[in-house]
Amino acid sequence: MIRNIKETDNERFSQYVRTHNKGKTHFAFVNTFGCQQNEADSEKIRAMAIEMGYELTENPEKADFIVLNTCAIREHAEKKALSILGRFKALKANNPNLIVGLCGCMAAEGQVVEKIKKSYPFVSFTVEPNMLYKIPELVALYLQNSKRNYVLGMDEGDIVEGIPSHRASHFSAWVSIMYGCNNFCSYCIVPYVRGRERSRESQEIIEECRNLIKNGYKEITLLGQNVNSYKSDMDFATLLMNIANIEGDFIIRFMTSHPKDVSDSLMEVVGKYSGKIAPCFHLPLQSGSDAVLKAMNRTYDTEKYLNTVEKLRSACPGIALTSDIIVGFPGESEEDFQKTLEVLKKVRFDMVYSFIYSSRAGTRAEKMENHVPRDIQSERIGRLLEMQTEISYEMNLPYIDTVQRVLVHKKEDNLYTGRTLSNKLVHINSEKDDLVGKFINVKIDKVGAFYLTGLEK
Ligand code: 5AD
Ligand code: SF4
Repeated sequence: MIRNIKETDNERFSQYVRTHNKGKTHFAFVNTFGCQQNEADSEKIRAMAIEMGYELTENPEKADFIVLNTCAIREHAEKKALSILGRFKALKANNPNLIVGLCGCMAAEGQVVEKIKKSYPFVSFTVEPNMLYKIPELVALYLQNSKRNYVLGMDEGDIVEGIPSHRASHFSAWVSIMYGCNNFCSYCIVPYVRGRERSRESQEIIEECRNLIKNGYKEITLLGQNVNSYKSDMDFATLLMNIANIEGDFIIRFMTSHPKDVSDSLMEVVGKYSGKIAPCFHLPLQSGSDAVLKAMNRTYDTEKYLNTVEKLRSACPGIALTSDIIVGFPGESEEDFQKTLEVLKKVRFDMVYSFIYSSRAGTRAEKMENHVPRDIQSERIGRLLEMQTEISYEMNLPYIDTVQRVLVHKKEDNLYTGRTLSNKLVHINSEKDDLVGKFINVKIDKVGAFYLTGLEK
């Protein structure tokens, strides 16, 4: 069901919090872990905090309301979040009125919620990602009776429209277009914590983009766990085309795509609108061994993947390709790993994000046999990184002496940092003091494996 935030009682709850906190400035601190979807969710949490009358702070010690927006994709992320959460105990001891909320993917895991109930008594509420809009209600309830609440059990298929967003940037925006995942890759916790796939209505998305562009946004990143399986009254390729047809000087990015859903029409649209749709494609391969891909339930084999890459490169000449690889999946033999290296050599990605397999409770891979020992996993990822670093460097070499259109993201001292349309990081030396948020032309003079440098032209 698509619900509008206006049809909820949020305004009434926010009003309650504002009245309760009247007379003194109250501060909110939102701490984000994980992916871009979480960054986008945190922008919504900040907007809800502002509606409740809080001022934002980056200093947890000053805060009256703290939200930890967590990631569950790997064990390391969970451990880190719990250790940060532990630090808030002392803050609560100093300020008994402090409200601490835990949200994000960890808040959708039953065993984490149990742990919070038992061992983290200073946490006021947990709320799973699909129910974020409930935050004003949870704050109001806690202020009313100091009772702890745990919101689990999403309404499958629910989308809540109209939650405001306090965007961190005035030129680059996240726009979620679909939520959840149906793929159940055997290692992945996402379908369990984010629920089944559901897409926002196309007109809502197009309207949101139109408003962003009208307000001067130069970069829009469409987000979805499985962005290219977007489906409403139109498919993803048609949606992209509609956004690209909005008038203005801006670039559209999207992530993350599943190889099984790269349709011919999608490749065609990305190629045709290369000035508006960024010439880059993040296409997680995960493994180059067919046996491992099968055990991962990825539904493609290497031949099919390579075929997609070939078609993409011919439909979109010069497109930058990036990928995710999991190293040391259960049962991965040295031979399987060699096959992954072989595919990396064949494809020559511009960049690869590699991860050591991390066992997640409740997934199918957790129960598989032959888990790969940690030292072998580490040794393999080291070899992969070494090889890919060389390839990434070589892929950047042709950029030397070219002029690239770059969107400038930030400035530190006299050094600007931006991204080419193909999403390569660029460092730019300039005396000018007004480049952030603008497209500029940069002549590239040097490249490394992970960045380019150049001068404004
Ligand atoms: N262990 C390691 N990496 C994982 N990813 C997802 N689940 C796991 C896991 N259990 C990686 C995948 C995915 C990226 C976002 O995180 O490569 O594409
Ligand atoms: Fe996880 Fe696979 Fe869904 Fe990506 S496609 S979110 S890896 S289950």
